[in-house]
Amino acid sequence: MSSGLGVEVVGIVNKLQDVFSAVGSSAAQIDLPQICVLGSQSSGKSSVLENIVGRDFLPRGTGIVTRRPLVLQLINRPAEKTDAKIDTSDDKAANADEWGEFLHLPGQKFYDFGKIRDEIVRDTEAKTGKNAGISPQPINLRIFSPNVVTLTLVDLPGLTKVPVGDQPKDIEKQIRDMVLKYISKPSCIILAVTAANTDLANSDGLKMAREVDSEGIRTIGVLTKIDLMDKGTDVIDILAGRVIPLRLGYVPVVNRGQRDIESAKPITQALEYERQYFASHPSYSGKESYCGTPYLARKLNTLLMQHIRATLPDIKMRISQQLQKFNTELASLGGPTADGNSGNIVLSVITEFTSEFRNAIDGVTTDLSLNE
Ligand code: GDP
Ligand code: NA
Ligand code: MG
Repeated sequence: MSSGLGVEVVGIVNKLQDVFSAVGSSAAQIDLPQICVLGSQSSGKSSVLENIVGRDFLPRGTGIVTRRPLVLQLINRPAEKTDAKIDTSDDKAANADEWGEFLHLPGQKFYDFGKIRDEIVRDTEAKTGKNAGISPQPINLRIFSPNVVTLTLVDLPGLTKVPVGDQPKDIEKQIRDMVLKYISKPSCIILAVTAANTDLANSDGLKMAREVDSEGIRTIGVLTKIDLMDKGTDVIDILAGRVIPLRLGYVPVVNRGQRDIESAKPITQALEYERQYFASHPSYSGKESYCGTPYLARKLNTLLMQHIRATLPDIKMRISQQLQKFNTELASLGGPTADGNSGNIVLSVITEFTSEFRNAIDGVTTDLSLNE
């Protein structure tokens, strides 16, 4: 996956998750941040999320497409040793190692990501009607894959002011309340999306992000539709912090346009187009390494690493408490014998657990250079 969140974070999160599954649910759990997209309707929120994941599976398009929150849990799961391919209607051969599961359809595995999109549309309409209604009831989707970092992404309905279709008169407030519920969490990283062909000063996403993150410590500005800006204009002033400065800065991106969506342009082609766009544009060439989806993914990666570093001391503390409990149990069972071969199954299981556990957490600590 070319635009993913990087092997470093994948590796560390996986090690931590191994530690937790080894000690069971009673021990520490890593509280990974959720990444939420925030912005006006049609600003390109779903497109940005899809590019970050590197797979096509979200409904996108003109009008109000995202009408319920989509809570998307990416779950890293190592590939099985078989290379069995699953037959799907997709022209891309689906991989037996990558699939989606909806909370509302337990036990049903979707290997065809196009069918995942169809189901999102179907269930949205089932719960809200076809005519632009919205609902705070989230759609929960899990994607299992060797190519993702275990993480939660949330696609949110766009901020809007004017009711259309069947929408209630207080649609603006309803969407605001819904969105606030997600972005208020301190562990939420906010991608405040603004289309570059609109006025940044009027960006509803940025305004709302500031309400919940006034220090700007968890808000990244994302500028979409750079390719639709008037000739001779660019976002250099915004990137330089001369318009509305953001501590974590802005990332300009080029997503697929409506015509690309209609012609089903593959995501790999879209990412290559984006790369060439910035590299060859007179305003951005020379700065292209700070532009585009791969750079956005790297920025997110850095934020995630900081978050893991910040939470690790607490996790380590909870883990050593757990170890102490194990040791007490060990002692009460007679303690490990010198050759480690106690003949007592319970005892040897606990002993093994304890050392596996210690190794795993030591590994993570080393990766993060946290050895005191
Ligand atoms: P959302 O409503 O914020 O989730 O926006 P979508 O991701 O559904 O995008 C809305 C429309 O804008 C779609 O037709 C996209 O193809 C188009 N779009 C999004 N980002 C870009 C971009 O960077 N460039 C171009 N040309 N079109 C874009
Ligand atoms: Na849209
Ligand atoms: Mg959307």
